[in-house]
Amino acid sequence: MFHDIPQTMLTRMHELEQMDLRDRGDGTSRLKRLRQIPAEVGKFIALLAAAAPDGRCIEIGTSAGYSTLWIALACRITGRTVTTFEILDEKAELARATFEAAGVADVVELIHGDALNLLADCKGIGFCFLDAEKELYDRCYEAVVPCLVKGGLLVADNATSHQASLRPMLERALRDERVDAIIVPIGHGELMCRKR
Ligand SMILES: C[S@@+](CC[C@H](N)C(=O)[O-])C[C@H]1O[C@@H](n2cnc3c(N)ncnc32)[C@H](O)[C@@H]1O
Repeated sequence: MFHDIPQTMLTRMHELEQMDLRDRGDGTSRLKRLRQIPAEVGKFIALLAAAAPDGRCIEIGTSAGYSTLWIALACRITGRTVTTFEILDEKAELARATFEAAGVADVVELIHGDALNLLADCKGIGFCFLDAEKELYDRCYEAVVPCLVKGGLLVADNATSHQASLRPMLERALRDERVDAIIVPIGHGELMCRKR
């Protein structure tokens, strides 16, 4: 999977990494920043998405589509598609450009809208990557967990970088008898839950 990433995808990943780096340092407002995961977390979620059981593959929080590209790599080998939700017009437009440029539009469905209103239609989830505003994590968690298939995976970003604000949701997940959960200390910290 990582040994034969198409050049079109590598080029777009590199462009987005540069944009992300630039806008973290130049005073770009929070809403406009890409706020992407680092590449090592991209590899981590790609491996998990590839190993996830059959079911829908979804992402909450697309931004410009960087993390989606890593999940799309997994979809290429599993024969699945990924549905990714983005609420902001500007980000959805950037993401659309990403998927075209990287040549993954056939495995990515971009839904432009509020994931919280749209998640109700997502039954039978095999893999979910959650990376939206931290105030939404609780509600997203409660919406996704009942819809995971047995063995289905929910991975949530920022479990160590935003530990204080996410504490109630993280504690809930670690105690939740519907899942087995752990916080993996890579990148900004990944909460990983597997449905029992
Ligand atoms: C941290 S960024 C996502 C970064 C992306 N996962 C990556 O690593 O490339 C969070 C994104 O979630 C989007 N977002 C926030 N609330 C949302 C909602 N209710 N529904 C869909 N997207 C939302 C934001 O607009 C923002 O683009």
